Amino acid sequence: MHTFTDISSLREQIKQYKREGRTIGFVPTMGNLHDGHLTLVREARKHADIVVVSIFVNPMQFDRSEDLESYPRTLEEDSQKLVSEAVEVLFTPTPELMYPQGLETQTSVEVPGISHILEGASRPGHFKGVATVVTKLFNIVQPDVACFGEKDFQQLAVIKQMTKDLALDIDIIGVPTVREMDGLAMSSRNNLLTIDERQRAPVLARTMRWVSSSIRSGRDDYASIVEDASDQLRAAGLQPDEIYIRDAQTLQAITSDSEQAVILVSAFLGQARLIDNLIVELTSESKEGSDEASETAEGHE
Ligand code: PAF
Repeated sequence: MHTFTDISSLREQIKQYKREGRTIGFVPTMGNLHDGHLTLVREARKHADIVVVSIFVNPMQFDRSEDLESYPRTLEEDSQKLVSEAVEVLFTPTPELMYPQGLETQTSVEVPGISHILEGASRPGHFKGVATVVTKLFNIVQPDVACFGEKDFQQLAVIKQMTKDLALDIDIIGVPTVREMDGLAMSSRNNLLTIDERQRAPVLARTMRWVSSSIRSGRDDYASIVEDASDQLRAAGLQPDEIYIRDAQTLQAITSDSEQAVILVSAFLGQARLIDNLIVELTSESKEGSDEASETAEGHE
């Protein structure tokens, strides 16, 4: 595996691959890699000849400096995992390389609308930070395809919209969430859980499945479904953060035209803010009279 810490030598290597007619699959990450990331790497491998992974803890997308500082940095272990996956290129830039003038004067990319709702409303600037760093990484790596986890559902929607709006010639591939045996979505944040918290964490996925079966059984009183779900999380010792039931394509309220709903859940457990989501196919019964209900389906605590 070639590891690059500067832009110009990485560019030279990419140009060489392209001269040889090889296609590039890209997996941007913030490191602390787990099986979920390795699934993205394997997916990229299916679509391209060369796999490039970046590890960069992006300061622009953190709203709290404590979270940025405490974000786990495990470059040695991460590199070994990528070597085992036969990844050809690893790019590990520093913040100084990515933002030489600092964040204040950095040109940014913002996807309006979708970046400011749901998680974007509670974390102002977060999706601007993601869109900016991903655009810059895309410009450096020049990939043909790029893989992102569906676990970060809104992030994936922002990146798809940005790629379309800026006419970037890159296929964005969403990869289904990888789960532990007990249903917990794999995440770097799971490392923050104590043994006891880890045992309680699967309630998040269980609650989401309960919301899904309630919708599929024809319930459209979304606001009270969200309240019941919040109670279930609280009873298991989690602190619900946000629970939304939205149209999976637009992330807006469900209407009679919606074909799929997405349940977006986040909750605090100890030091960790866990997030997860689930798609539900909507039947005509589950949509009836749902417009008004889904407007109030936000479980802000
Ligand atoms: O999902 C992540 O790990 C990050 O948000 C990303 C896409 C690598 C941008 O920093």
